[in-house]
Amino acid sequence: MSIPSAVDTPVSLEISPDGGIVGRTRRYEKFLGDMAGVYRDAAAWQSSVAERGADELIYWVDDHRYQEGPGALIVGTSTLLPGRIGEEFAVTRGHLHAVADRAELYHCLSGRGVMLMETLDGRSVAIELTPGKAVNVPGHWIHRSVNVGDEPFVTLFCYAADAGQDYEVISAAGGMKNLVVADGDGWMLAPNPDHVGYRQTDAD
Ligand SMILES: [Fe+2]
Repeated sequence: MSIPSAVDTPVSLEISPDGGIVGRTRRYEKFLGDMAGVYRDAAAWQSSVAERGADELIYWVDDHRYQEGPGALIVGTSTLLPGRIGEEFAVTRGHLHAVADRAELYHCLSGRGVMLMETLDGRSVAIELTPGKAVNVPGHWIHRSVNVGDEPFVTLFCYAADAGQDYEVISAAGGMKNLVVADGDGWMLAPNPDHVGYRQTDAD
């Protein structure tokens, strides 16, 4: 019987509660100008771009992976800055995993946010995350982070390296079914009137 060989050597990662990882293999940044079509209120997004500039940073993701194979993990942090576009709180684009059955853990390190999750057949769940709280997002759930606080919303995430992301599923549906909007000092879900229902895409 042959002994399987370990191809990777473990490295130390330093994860900051302010967001960011020392030892990351990748950083990915999204700017205000990249968020066309993400927020329902296109006019509010346009005027934010005009006022604040298309190159204002909205969120960034640091991650670490050893390899792409189905047994590997991607671990990282997502840092989403606070703000509002129209009625909506600041959001990440959101996605379904391209390999849709892949789950993902999100653990809040700092700030106050919501994980907004929806299924193709119309279920919707929103879970508030504050430091120490986590959500184990099952496979087949579209997910998006929303910052409902005044500080950066930072999560530690972990998912299968072969999962991939399908962003198109949200734009093809006219946005997610629910919007996360202000309600006094808190937040609430408001139905998105532009949402036309999800349909299965061919992403793989
Ligand atoms: Fe994901």
